[in-house]
Amino acid sequence: MSKDKFYITTAIDYPSGKPHIGHAYEKVCADCIARWNRLLGKEVFFLTGTDEHGSKIQKSAKKAGKEPKQYVDEMVVFFKELCEKLNISHNRFIRTTDEDHVKVSQGIFKKIHDSGEIYLGKYSGWYCSECETFYTEKDLKEGCCPTHEKKAEWISEESYFFKMSAYTEKVLDYLEKNSNSVLPAGKRKEIVNRVKGGLNDLSVSRANVPWGIPVPINDKHTQYVWMNALINYVSGVGAFPLDSKNELKDFWPADIHLIGKDILWHHTAIWFSILMAAGIELPKTVFAHGFINTASGEKMSKSKGTVVDPVEICDKYSADVLRYFLLREVPFGQDGNFSEEAMTERLNNELANGLGNLVNRTIVLIEKSFEGVVPDSKTDSDLQKKLKLGKIKKLMEGLELHHALAEIFAFVAACNQFVNEKEPWKLEGKEKEQALYSLADSLRIIAILLQPFIPETSEKINAQLNAEPGSLADCEFNRLKAGTKVKKGEVLFKKVA
Ligand code: MSP
Repeated sequence: MSKDKFYITTAIDYPSGKPHIGHAYEKVCADCIARWNRLLGKEVFFLTGTDEHGSKIQKSAKKAGKEPKQYVDEMVVFFKELCEKLNISHNRFIRTTDEDHVKVSQGIFKKIHDSGEIYLGKYSGWYCSECETFYTEKDLKEGCCPTHEKKAEWISEESYFFKMSAYTEKVLDYLEKNSNSVLPAGKRKEIVNRVKGGLNDLSVSRANVPWGIPVPINDKHTQYVWMNALINYVSGVGAFPLDSKNELKDFWPADIHLIGKDILWHHTAIWFSILMAAGIELPKTVFAHGFINTASGEKMSKSKGTVVDPVEICDKYSADVLRYFLLREVPFGQDGNFSEEAMTERLNNELANGLGNLVNRTIVLIEKSFEGVVPDSKTDSDLQKKLKLGKIKKLMEGLELHHALAEIFAFVAACNQFVNEKEPWKLEGKEKEQALYSLADSLRIIAILLQPFIPETSEKINAQLNAEPGSLADCEFNRLKAGTKVKKGEVLFKKVA
């Protein structure tokens, strides 16, 4: 029997500067969901990458005195490094300059053009190259982009237009009929209300931005960067043309497009219309996560020097400390604040005193009492009841990552309490055997459940327990083999003053 497929994507980042904590956050959340689905036994494809064309990149390259291709080739290294540092388990890192992507992007443009839904006209209006988005006069705040607060530029040039206005009703209907099409639910309502106001035809080519994918029917134009970028989700698994022979194409439609709330409009109104026009199925869910702000809740800003470098944080602490903090601190779907102080507090209390201490106590006690050999026993039935596995699974299914992680740590706390109450070092015979078997068996399950959240730590616990990485099906008690030889390893988390 073939396995269930699960396809998750992140937004593709503009490599116009080094990656920041927002980029890290999105990748960590997507990675957690991808890993969870692998634990469920699904065949997962996880796509991330970079959005390398358009006026924003063209301008950054010019400022750096480089050709755009050379510039993106150099910048993409930082984004790949970020993925490596964070232990992101993506299956492909797509770049919109990849040859297969360019072909698919042109193919979809041509298909929509050939069906009479793209026409040549003249675009006159406002444009923000920070978010590569067109605005009307009334969208602007004192002449500035409402998202980036930078002066919008006036553009007046020949352009191809996509008849997006013709999709207002269809997009609305899809959004209204599919309650999971946009999550969280409040975000779907926002989009529904905006689409009700009507969609405008969309300018999908630029005559004055040479750094782009050439329009297949007129090489004086390049494709509007969003029209090309969104298509990465389809080209990433070779799902176009529709008769594609690519064996990954069955991953389409995507199960989840994970993106930030600032680009939800692009991923619903624009993306859904493009897909409908091209005759391609729509993604099942677009999930809009919140923003990571400064400690005081302000937007991070380069000019104020409040941007946090995730690679530096990983080097100073560890990937798992950052992953744990982001996943535990920020309610998934809402904004959250980042500060080293708050992260240190969680590191000291929950990771070092909580999890690290439990692992250390368990292994040391087994080494002292049984020369490191797991005794033959069964896990204490009261302790078993403290693990709410059904609840954790439900929370993950509902994408409540922060609550699921809290629930796993509630079990870690229950195990520590078990040690404090039982005082295994005072016990003898069968009672001692049972107490220590219970702890080692519980740790084995904890290591499985934590794998999507803090994979390096999960691996280290397995190494100390001499256990193989398990799947969710192995989260049953009493599966730890008696006679297993455990071995104390390095301290899992060092406290920070
Ligand atoms: N290139 C476009 C996306 C195209 S997807 C077809 C883009 N790039 S970006 O580099 O500006 O942003 C990449 C992702 O990071 C987006 O989902 C965005 O919402 C997210 N974040 C950017 N800053 C963020 C925070 N401060 N916090 C959390 N996520 C944020 O948009």
